[in-house]
Amino acid sequence: MKKALKQFAIFVVMGIAINMIVKSSFSKRGLDNLNQPKQETIQEENMLKDTTFKDEEGRNIIKNPDDILVLVNKERNLPSDYEPEDLTIPEVPFSFDEDLEKRYLRKEAAEKLSLLFQGAKEDDLELFAVSGYRSFNTQESIFNNKVSQSSLEEAEKLVATPGQSEHQTGLAIDVSSREMNLLLEEDFGQTEEGIWLQENSHKYGFIIRYPEDKVHITLYNYEPWHLRYVGENAAKEIYENSSSLEEYLGFKQ
Ligand code: DAL
Ligand code: ZN
Repeated sequence: MKKALKQFAIFVVMGIAINMIVKSSFSKRGLDNLNQPKQETIQEENMLKDTTFKDEEGRNIIKNPDDILVLVNKERNLPSDYEPEDLTIPEVPFSFDEDLEKRYLRKEAAEKLSLLFQGAKEDDLELFAVSGYRSFNTQESIFNNKVSQSSLEEAEKLVATPGQSEHQTGLAIDVSSREMNLLLEEDFGQTEEGIWLQENSHKYGFIIRYPEDKVHITLYNYEPWHLRYVGENAAKEIYENSSSLEEYLGFKQ
């Protein structure tokens, strides 16, 4: 009888021990699950980790200007002497005839832009490329012109200061249509061509870089004409989440 009691006691203790081990393993897994979104967020923040350095004036200078996902904005400057090495002319109609620097784009972006224009054509829409690559010096003239036409405050909402324009990366291009008289104006967003671009650009790796509802993040006015090449994966995710490049890369102001 004593032996039976002892065996029963051992059985109960073992049962409790097994129960505790199983519970602790489940709660660990539960914690891991809770931590997962956090880890993803950290990963996104890391996409910008170590991508700038401070110059003597305390400005952030971009270290990865050749990266297809490079983030250029009011807090992240391209080196003033940065010029992409693979500038190419996309096979698309332009709003001008001359062989100017604005006719060029980085090779991959140029090839994908040609496909995008073909896609629009298949849907009976005619797009025109207006302005692609711009050197630091060209951006400087455009910015100074805008300031003299309006004010510094107004100019800064519309035109990037030199070093802060995506056009210097060769990954951005402004697009218009006949209906817009080839001009770059907000109404473009409501035209058939502008709507087509909003709905289809991501299929070719482009995003509308300055959306109407992201002005507080991009710090630029709505630009339905400004396409930025980021590659198909990023473009799809940004399109599906209705986000901005800043949000996608985990940029904090
Ligand atoms: N208009 C855009 C912001 C640029 O100047 O690059
Ligand atoms: Zn632009």
